[in-house]
Amino acid sequence: MEEIKRAAAPHAMLFPFPCSGHINPTLKLGELLHSRGVRVTFVNTEHNHERLLRRSALRGREGFRFESVPDGLENADRRAPDKTVRLYLSLRRSCRAPLVALARRLVPRVTCVVLSGLVSFALGVAEELAVPSFVLWGTSACGFLCTLRLRQLRQRGYTPLKDESYLTNGYLDTPIDWITGMPPVRLGDISSFVRTVDPTSFALRVEEEEANSCAKAQGLILNTFDELEPDVLDALRDEFPRVYTIGPLAAAMHLRVNPGPSAGLSLWEEDASCMAWLDARQAGSVLYVSFGSLAVLSLSQLAEFAWGLAGTQRPFLWVVRPGLVAGDRGMEALPSDFLEETENRRLIVEWCAQEQVLRHPAVGGFLTHSGWNSTTESIWAGVPMVCAPGFADQYINSRYVCGEEEWGIGLRLDEQLRREQVAAHVEELMGEGSKKGEEMKRNAAKWKARAEAATAPGGSAHENLERLFEVLRLDEE
Ligand code: UDX
Repeated sequence: MEEIKRAAAPHAMLFPFPCSGHINPTLKLGELLHSRGVRVTFVNTEHNHERLLRRSALRGREGFRFESVPDGLENADRRAPDKTVRLYLSLRRSCRAPLVALARRLVPRVTCVVLSGLVSFALGVAEELAVPSFVLWGTSACGFLCTLRLRQLRQRGYTPLKDESYLTNGYLDTPIDWITGMPPVRLGDISSFVRTVDPTSFALRVEEEEANSCAKAQGLILNTFDELEPDVLDALRDEFPRVYTIGPLAAAMHLRVNPGPSAGLSLWEEDASCMAWLDARQAGSVLYVSFGSLAVLSLSQLAEFAWGLAGTQRPFLWVVRPGLVAGDRGMEALPSDFLEETENRRLIVEWCAQEQVLRHPAVGGFLTHSGWNSTTESIWAGVPMVCAPGFADQYINSRYVCGEEEWGIGLRLDEQLRREQVAAHVEELMGEGSKKGEEMKRNAAKWKARAEAATAPGGSAHENLERLFEVLRLDEE
């Protein structure tokens, strides 16, 4: 029998898709590996590397280094409306050889490659280096399962849609009740990628391909925990023999690496004024509003959110990052009369330390786009949510957040945004005397405790992380 021996120096090369939603969890995983003696080389694209260097956010140290490879993108492409697609294609085209060359230069030698989703081409890098590969797929387990099932949805004719009218004629409400591991959901809940009329839809094909290619990796790592998505995980484990559910990563980091280096590799400067502003607010009174690192709002959506917030009479902290508004605009796009009207009870910043903000006692609710990192951070902080999904897995995440049979910790806004509903949902979530609000707060406290238990010693996520450490230390030379 082939002898399996321990690697003298396990050395993981980590390469996330270059956006915050992928960099953040990958970095946390890197910190966790490093805390257990694994050497880590974290590879950013040169573009992000330089951005981070300018802000001195890169702090390499013994056993944890940052490196970079070119993303191959022309500068003009960085502001194009389809910049994420261009980036995806460019990485695929131009990054494999530089990654292999980088890995070959590293000492001690790289013993495994860890990728986020959307960079499956780099599985080939691990193959060339003859080392095991792991994929940290950055969505919920239910998001991953839905993405895997896009193929069947296509084969059964649910998507692409026959014509544009199917987007609004109720067709998206078609029940999908045949996905093992999931409760009946609406077709529209599955993913934004089913909402296409294009039979050659690039996004649909890419998502499908990327999720299915995870089967080629030695392990699938998910930022979730077993108690949160038990049925989905059972179904996934039938297809993927090695699934490591190690989340919420924010909680695991807090427990295992703190006090230690901050997990912050924010691509934007965090505004430090938030904490003092929150300190001056009453417990549970503030609504935190953020739509993550990729969402782009139309001017009319921006206005509905703004006037909805104005309508609540509550204090709110809103992250309006550069580029949040169509036309590559940010705060300057906010209506001036809205700014005047809410001046005494709001703080608007370009970016903040979101995990810290969510865990601040003043924060009592989160108006979110339901990105998975934000969702897990909110679960860990015990903060209930108003959900405004708009892309990819955000629909299915919000379905689970809001489902009373599932997590019961949120309310979802209609797809046709209305300021009245924004205000009404926030009030229902946070207002005193709201029965539903009280129930969601109780559920949020329950899930917070479960998230903490899962990541604590003896908990499911803690043990899975230990298993992952063990596997990484095995060297099958
Ligand atoms: C992307 C996809 O859009 C999302 O659907 C998928 O689930 C993950 O990848 P993104 O849209 O950026 O992510 O959202 P999210 O997953 O919530 O990640 C945003 C990250 O940025 C979070 O970790 C959050 O803490 C951080 N953030 C956000 C900040 O640190 N500061 C801010 O001000 C806002």
